[in-house]
Amino acid sequence: MRILAIETSCDETAIAIVEGTVAEGGTSFTILGNALLSQIEVHREYGGVYPMLAKREHAKNLVPLLSAALEEAEMLRKDLQSIPADIESALGTLLEREGDLAGALLAMLREYGVPDIDAIAVTAGPGLEPALWVGVNFAKALALVWHKPLISVNHMEGHLLAALLQEQEANAYLLPETSLPLLGLLISGGHTEIVEMTDWLEYRLVGQTRDDAVGEAFDKVARMLALPYPGGPEISRLAERARERGGANPFTLPRPMLTSDSCDFSFSGLKTAVLYLVKDKELDETEKEDMALAFEEAVADVLYAKTVRAIEETGALSLAIGGGVSANAYIKRVFSEKLPADHPEVSLSIPVPFLTGDNAIMIALAGYFRAKRGEFADADGLIADGNRALGTRLK
Ligand code: KG4
Ligand code: ZN
Repeated sequence: MRILAIETSCDETAIAIVEGTVAEGGTSFTILGNALLSQIEVHREYGGVYPMLAKREHAKNLVPLLSAALEEAEMLRKDLQSIPADIESALGTLLEREGDLAGALLAMLREYGVPDIDAIAVTAGPGLEPALWVGVNFAKALALVWHKPLISVNHMEGHLLAALLQEQEANAYLLPETSLPLLGLLISGGHTEIVEMTDWLEYRLVGQTRDDAVGEAFDKVARMLALPYPGGPEISRLAERARERGGANPFTLPRPMLTSDSCDFSFSGLKTAVLYLVKDKELDETEKEDMALAFEEAVADVLYAKTVRAIEETGALSLAIGGGVSANAYIKRVFSEKLPADHPEVSLSIPVPFLTGDNAIMIALAGYFRAKRGEFADADGLIADGNRALGTRLK
């Protein structure tokens, strides 16, 4: 089954075409086409992501990315199409708030034949609602013109499934059958949560942040240290330097909620502790590196301790770490060094590096499994939901 997937939840615009097939020991996925454009440079001068700016960039980039992904998949065949007037008008209505998107899309759709795909998957949440809507409406327009079914995908399910992919050869991956229960530690710019997959694709929320997301805390602390957006990779780079240098760290930071009786997190206290230590001071390079190290270690300690607690509460046999912050080398190291000793029964999955941040391949994975279960969305019911949850808490 071939899925065309669209991702516009935050500051990456991405389109991928992925083919999934049942294989021995799991599902194999071939990436036929993958096109992604990051808006980091656009948002950097503002020090964060502006939803309306993100929305405008998505609208501008979707058609060129669609062409690029189809071309890579060898599905961009010149074949003039006539689009019936009623469909053209419905498409215009769908995209009327997206600048020139309708015009650009119609021009492209008139020129090329219908691609050989089975369904269109789109991120419907969580994320920035104005940004999500562009992708959702774009997906609806394609589904309308090409007569393809739609799948509404949860962005966090995408991050979770992406962590399970194992590279077989160039562009070919296996998503192995995974022992359940599986825990997902999902850490990104907007979310920090631990979910339990009890049955395949059925989730229960085990813990979540009560305030800031971990990526958001990285970004805010980076700003306090006058580092550019996004702050995660910057903090990580500075912390690594302090680690190499060694020696005592003059800064100590708290481990919020470490001993609390739950799997919930809190990062705003940690952020405030940094603020208190840096305010009215001009930190030199060495001090910035030490602060980055203290912060990264505090975060990793809390993430690890809460995850172990969740493993012990649920009896999980697998752990997948997903989301933008799963790119963090130190956090990955803490988990891969400590988990085998503390919980040898738990197998750990971390995304291959190019799938840690937002992308459309992960949306295609979720789309594939949802389509396999016949979970298609009808166009009228498919809405963007910025707060869409992956699982609900039982207690
Ligand atoms: O999943 P993602 O790409 O977008 C959201 O859905 O939010 O996550 C982006 C977040 C940003 O906060 C960024 O600073 C953080 O991931 N991030 C990192 C690293 N790389 C990206 N945080 C810590 N260490 C990193 N190496
Ligand atoms: Zn994300």
